[in-house]
Amino acid sequence: MNTLTQFLLNHKGKNPVSFHMPGHKGSAIYREHGYSEFLDNIMDCDITEIPGADNLFQTEGVLKETMERYRRLYDTKESCLLINGSSGGLLAAILASVPKGGKLVMARNCHKSIFNALSLGDITPVYAHPAVIEEYGILGEVTPEEVDRCLNEHPDASAVILPSPNYYGICSDVSAIAEVVHARGKVLIIDQAHGAHLAFFAKYGIPGFPASAEASGADLVINSIHKTLASFTQTALLNVCSDRVDKYDLEDRLQAIESSSPSYPLMATLDLNADLMEHYGETLMKEWAESLQWFYETAEKEVLGLRIMRHPMLDFTKLNLDMSAYGLNGNELEDLLMEEDIFIELVTGNILMCMTGIGNKRCDFEKLLNALKKIAGQRQLLDVKLQQPSAVTASLKMTAVPLRKERVKLEEAAGRVCASSVIPYPPGIPIVCPGEIFDEEVIAYIKARREAEEKVIGLDELGRVAVGRKE
Ligand SMILES: Cc1ncc(COP(=O)(O)O)c(C=O)c1O
Repeated sequence: MNTLTQFLLNHKGKNPVSFHMPGHKGSAIYREHGYSEFLDNIMDCDITEIPGADNLFQTEGVLKETMERYRRLYDTKESCLLINGSSGGLLAAILASVPKGGKLVMARNCHKSIFNALSLGDITPVYAHPAVIEEYGILGEVTPEEVDRCLNEHPDASAVILPSPNYYGICSDVSAIAEVVHARGKVLIIDQAHGAHLAFFAKYGIPGFPASAEASGADLVINSIHKTLASFTQTALLNVCSDRVDKYDLEDRLQAIESSSPSYPLMATLDLNADLMEHYGETLMKEWAESLQWFYETAEKEVLGLRIMRHPMLDFTKLNLDMSAYGLNGNELEDLLMEEDIFIELVTGNILMCMTGIGNKRCDFEKLLNALKKIAGQRQLLDVKLQQPSAVTASLKMTAVPLRKERVKLEEAAGRVCASSVIPYPPGIPIVCPGEIFDEEVIAYIKARREAEEKVIGLDELGRVAVGRKE
């Protein structure tokens, strides 16, 4: 048995608790809802476009039916199945909305797939800067005023894109932003990779969660069904909610970007997820919301010194935990949770983000609470808690995204135009994006991250970064 497979089987053998992607959290959710036959025959379902199996890029049969199910579930004009994750859908949505060489207003904390669209479409970004939530050292919402400012300064931009919710679950006021964007006749694309579930809280009348982008007036909404609902990793959905983007252009972009051999087992899990939401969605969403409510209410009471992020724009399915009152930063807390076989999604400074999903059961939340109690019980509360590092934001001068690259030592990059994002991890937000000009301050910041042995994506093993080639 090769080592990758062995790793996966060993991990499963630990009976781990998953507070990371994907949202199904293992096979139980399928087995308990009558989908065992699919799991038992998954390899035999791995076919190609034989007669009767339909074609993802010209749907008229069984795949069309799955799309229709999603169209009804999300109440959209059209819902396109995606097998290259939200990443593929985001690329296609941007390339269909912004002409080659055009401009795109985008949140500065967008996912890297959106930066990839810039180079593919020769698109110039106009950055909308998200608000900083100082108390937690993370980036928050993009305000309608900020979008308005960008569109005033760049009336030639064709579209606006932002993440809502962002990685930590902070949503933006999509309704108000849609008004601003549509008043100027532009297209609003929402990266709802982290929020595929939001529409279902609303659908089943469960209060306390932000509205979905589909219900808030966005034109194109891209959902990672795999992140929080019950399909397999890489499966996602592009929801078309208006006629502002040409449908045929969009389909053309999708077929250009996605694999020409879409996996039937993956697409079948999108079908099963739709079936699950149609038949058991209400119960599952209610149970999920109840477990969350129980955790939020109980955890802070029972673990003195634990802080759980609350915010008016928060999607509460993300648990952002802070145990710095015990002198623990996020990485140290993660290590301690792993000793209890609890695996989480993300650490940023003192914040540890647990990503809950539809497959999490009450016992997962109980195990997390018990682990936190145990950790707290073994430590003393500090008089002065650890400082939360501030959110990483950089305000660098910008120019066009270079089309041709070369690599130079980080120390020699001052004044050069970034050609590939440099992303300290954590927090995973690009510190320098393509088209931005390296300055001494940002170089010093990146060097300090490397010296602290933090991971920095975008530097090669010789410590070089990609910059625009000098012609
Ligand atoms: C904000 C955001 N958008 C888009 C994506 C891409 O989603 P996918 O993994 O489905 O391609 C991610 C991935 O983590 C993300 O965090």
